[in-house]
Amino acid sequence: MSGHGAAQMMTATRSSPLTGLAEVPGDKSISHRALIFGAMAVGETTITGLLEGQDVLDTAAAMRAFGAEVARHGAGMWSVHGVGVGGFREPENVIDFGNSGTGVRLIMGCMATTAMTATFTGDASLRKRPMGRVTDPLSLFGTQAYGRKGGRLPMTVVGAANPVPVRYALPVASAQVKSAVLLAGLNAPGQTVVIEREATRDHSERMLLGFGAELVVEKTAEGNVITLTGRPELRPQTVAVPRDPSSAAFPVCAALIVEGSDIFVPGVSQNLTRNGIYITLVEMGADITFENPREEGGEPVADLRVRFSDLQGVEVPPERAPSMIDEYPILSVVAANATGKTVMRGVKELRVKELDRIDAMARGLEACGVRIEEDEDTLIVHGMGPGAVPGGATCATHLDHRIAMSFLVAGMASQKPITVDDASPILTSFPLFEGLMTGLGATLTKG
Ligand code: S3P
Repeated sequence: MSGHGAAQMMTATRSSPLTGLAEVPGDKSISHRALIFGAMAVGETTITGLLEGQDVLDTAAAMRAFGAEVARHGAGMWSVHGVGVGGFREPENVIDFGNSGTGVRLIMGCMATTAMTATFTGDASLRKRPMGRVTDPLSLFGTQAYGRKGGRLPMTVVGAANPVPVRYALPVASAQVKSAVLLAGLNAPGQTVVIEREATRDHSERMLLGFGAELVVEKTAEGNVITLTGRPELRPQTVAVPRDPSSAAFPVCAALIVEGSDIFVPGVSQNLTRNGIYITLVEMGADITFENPREEGGEPVADLRVRFSDLQGVEVPPERAPSMIDEYPILSVVAANATGKTVMRGVKELRVKELDRIDAMARGLEACGVRIEEDEDTLIVHGMGPGAVPGGATCATHLDHRIAMSFLVAGMASQKPITVDDASPILTSFPLFEGLMTGLGATLTKG
């Protein structure tokens, strides 16, 4: 589905203390992958806790278009009757991924080594994002791609009829690119090897092992060397999707900056490839306790108790970027409410997300009265102290869910309200954001 319907303005007003239970939805990355790997297994995969955000619903629709049977049985409860590796059927129509970079890039990978043609498009944001980072390595398998100027959507991909296995060193730290190459390698003979210098989220590797693929990860001086043996028969699984640490970051950060707050966020993934934001918040002096550590759905999780904190600015090392790449927007809001400056280096990948997120946060925070410095790869936020951000601005979200949620959280602690011009993109990843935050005590008003 392109776009998200009508734009919806929303305003956050300085909040009384946030208290209570924040049950965030299922992990977006794992939800996409559960549907995709389920479609490539032979037989019925069942999923619980699936995120029912628009991005994931678009992936479900795409898997149907490629021939899998996908059904919803209740809230978060889905089944996928897979067609096996190489068993996809050619889609009849153009596949529209709406706002979802993860959906389109992973699914380009999983059809790239099957003899068929598919055409992909998306909303105005997705049509601006680079696809060459995926189609370049896919061309090594023998796949062809014909897109708009600069490798943009709409794009037609012609899968390789006689794919060859590939050895590919990732030029950017991207789990989407890594996953697309591994998915393509599933239907290539022999061994496909992906080398990543910096570790990125490892859900595809975990899930490939869970579905019975032969996959070996070696930690070497070059980084992680991931070797996948092609043409396995993937076995259907029962997948329990854990809660999303990226979504959890919004109530967690809101509680840290709204005076008097004390909230409980159960079951947040502590996967080392995803938890950079929590490490950074603790370094800033955040009062977060990580209770009852355990494993859920193959991921390490903990329950988080989070209380309002007097935070200090920090320097976030560039090597931490892959483990918190989606959390810099909300971190910059926290940084504005800390004392001293927060320096975020190695963040240039933010410029090719749903929107140039460095630019969006810098312009919006400046409009709220915060001093910002930036260059291509760095964002510096000069903290004003707890509750001292003036606010009183309307910030543009440009179809970006995380920018929308970040400025609404900012408004919960600022002196004057903060408005976002369009909160509807939040539906892509966190449909219950408004209800969850108002349930904790936040004041959000539409229009
Ligand atoms: C994702 C990978 C990241 C992240 C995105 C989800 C994934 O993108 O920003 O929200 O599920 O693989 P990149 O791989 O482009 O860094």
